[in-house]
Amino acid sequence: MSDLKFFSDELVIKDKRIILRLDFNVPMKASVIQDDTRIKIVEPFLSKLVQKKAKLILLSHLGRPNGKFDINLSLRPVFEFLKKKYKYNIKFYTKKINNDTINETNALSPGEILFFENIRFFKDEENDSEEFARRLAKLGDIFINEAFSCSHRKQASLHKITKFIDSYGGPLLKKEIQSINLILSNKEKPVSCIIGGSKVSTKINVISNLTKKIDNLIIVGAMANNFLKFDGQEIGKSLIEKGSEKYIKKIYELAIKHNCKVYKPLDFNTSTDLNGSSNYKELKELNSKDIILDIGRKTVDLIENVIISSKTVFWNGPAGFFENKNFASGTVAIAKQIAEKTKSGSLISIVGGGDTLASIQKTNYINKFTHLSTAGGAFLESLEGKELPAIKVLKY
Ligand code: 3PG
Repeated sequence: MSDLKFFSDELVIKDKRIILRLDFNVPMKASVIQDDTRIKIVEPFLSKLVQKKAKLILLSHLGRPNGKFDINLSLRPVFEFLKKKYKYNIKFYTKKINNDTINETNALSPGEILFFENIRFFKDEENDSEEFARRLAKLGDIFINEAFSCSHRKQASLHKITKFIDSYGGPLLKKEIQSINLILSNKEKPVSCIIGGSKVSTKINVISNLTKKIDNLIIVGAMANNFLKFDGQEIGKSLIEKGSEKYIKKIYELAIKHNCKVYKPLDFNTSTDLNGSSNYKELKELNSKDIILDIGRKTVDLIENVIISSKTVFWNGPAGFFENKNFASGTVAIAKQIAEKTKSGSLISIVGGGDTLASIQKTNYINKFTHLSTAGGAFLESLEGKELPAIKVLKY
């Protein structure tokens, strides 16, 4: 940590072109931002740079467009939001990145912002292309990574770019690393990890490695459907990820080997359509038409008891389809239990992930955890004790 280069007020930034990598990967529906936490949290730093008369080049991704333009993953709504809400002098850049782009960044006025369209529309971004990173670096004089939540990705605008430009970590990135490190070095057993969300394959390595370090693994959300299916249960039309069996087999094997208890949902709030109302079912009552959309009361009780018996809890991923309020209660109940136990001083907690934040944003529990992380995957990989690739490159 002490060998990492962080932004400081001593850094001369007036009239300098600063490339700021942010994480504006916010939940979006029909071009409407559903949760602005990730924007609001970096805004004070953005304003500070504007006030200090830096010329700003903002880079971010949204979703996983696989190197192709996708109107549904355009960052234009975020641009409009920044322009309207914070009244920045800001332009949106949607063209190719070449020498003309360098001219545009040179021509920025102090305090002006050039906000780039989704950087993942360029396939070279995800390839961590050296040539693309070099081109990006030429757009600025200083690079700041203020996207802790993306720092587990070896991608050009986070990783390779640092090879070609004076690079620093931003204040939020610093706070995330400090808080997570502090908690990891002071964590007390029993340690429980609650994992939700949908994609098993993207979290498999993390979950497998975590089974070696934790006492309880609680699987919720669409992630749990895969485990139930693997166990031979009927889960109807519930969301699953094809080919997840081999991952789940591995997690079960490792959990046995490392004495980590695995908990799965016992009952559910279901529907036959995502926008529908809730129908309570026990595991054995599920039929071929059901869609599991939330955990039921018995499962909530089970999870509450595990939280009560834990000294440290890590939570990433909602327990249900919270976008429909009929299926938000499981997630809110988990948040409540963790928040209350943390507040009473008997639990250390880290809660993280874009969807997790969005799902509990409107509750009173949001600020009651030991640390609220903006990150999902990056937070889980940090829990494993890994040094994240885009942070490793910020060393002196
Ligand atoms: C996140 O939401 O966790 C980050 O923005 C990273 O997104 P990714 O998993 O698509 O790389």
